[in-house]
Amino acid sequence: MEGGAARLLPDTRLRSSGRVRERARSIGLEGILPPNDPRGRHLLELEDGHLELRLLGSRLSPLWIDFTARSGRSLLRQVLSRSRRVVDATAGLGRDAWELAGWGAEVWMAESNPAVALLLGDALERASADPQRRELAGRLHLRAARGEEVLAELRGWAELAYLDPMFPPRRGGLPGRELQILSSLVSPSAGEELLLTCQQLGYRRVAVKRPRVAPSLPGPRPSGAIHGKQVRYDLYGF
Ligand SMILES: C[S@@+](CC[C@H](N)C(=O)[O-])C[C@H]1O[C@@H](n2cnc3c(N)ncnc32)[C@H](O)[C@@H]1O
Repeated sequence: MEGGAARLLPDTRLRSSGRVRERARSIGLEGILPPNDPRGRHLLELEDGHLELRLLGSRLSPLWIDFTARSGRSLLRQVLSRSRRVVDATAGLGRDAWELAGWGAEVWMAESNPAVALLLGDALERASADPQRRELAGRLHLRAARGEEVLAELRGWAELAYLDPMFPPRRGGLPGRELQILSSLVSPSAGEELLLTCQQLGYRRVAVKRPRVAPSLPGPRPSGAIHGKQVRYDLYGF
């Protein structure tokens, strides 16, 4: 796992303790942990052997990541097609990356938010220490950095760039707990800049996760799509 504070979004204010700093050090991500900031709305804690993130002033239970369930969603298998080397440039909670690795891919995850990257790094470390998950975890790698940067570094290696920018907020009804916490932390990202970066860097295949009925990202037109009940994957073969 790698990270560097200067590469990350600078706007995250976190409350955290010495124990959290120790854990961050043990997973090689101490450099990205912002200093403890009592004004922060988010508290990063070490609880029951895992890092978790609490949104202060809310009743939401804390967010933490555990790579366990292997859902049988085959859409990502179709997205992967024959690609085996993937950059997931918006790793988030790592669900998609874990599933892509479950289908045999080697995946580099890029996550630019320090708190989310720490949760991911913590989950990856725990999965790597578990004999039942070790093999799969070994196919996942984390960079606490902007996706644009990792895409540039790995352009000669990767066969597929995978993008899942934050969807714009839904009208009506509250999103699920995890999404509420995530969106309190990271702003919706357009995604088109990442798509443009992929195009400029010469990525031959790019998949973009979109809400089922949302328009495609502005920019190049997708060459195909895979439709699911909740989401759609726009496929670009540049
Ligand atoms: C919708 S979430 C991704 C969810 C993920 N696919 C999963 O399965 O858990 C989007 C994530 O991308 C991150 N992000 C947005 N823009 C980014 C960028 N330019 N580089 C790296 N990460 C970015 C956000 O911080 C957020 O955690």
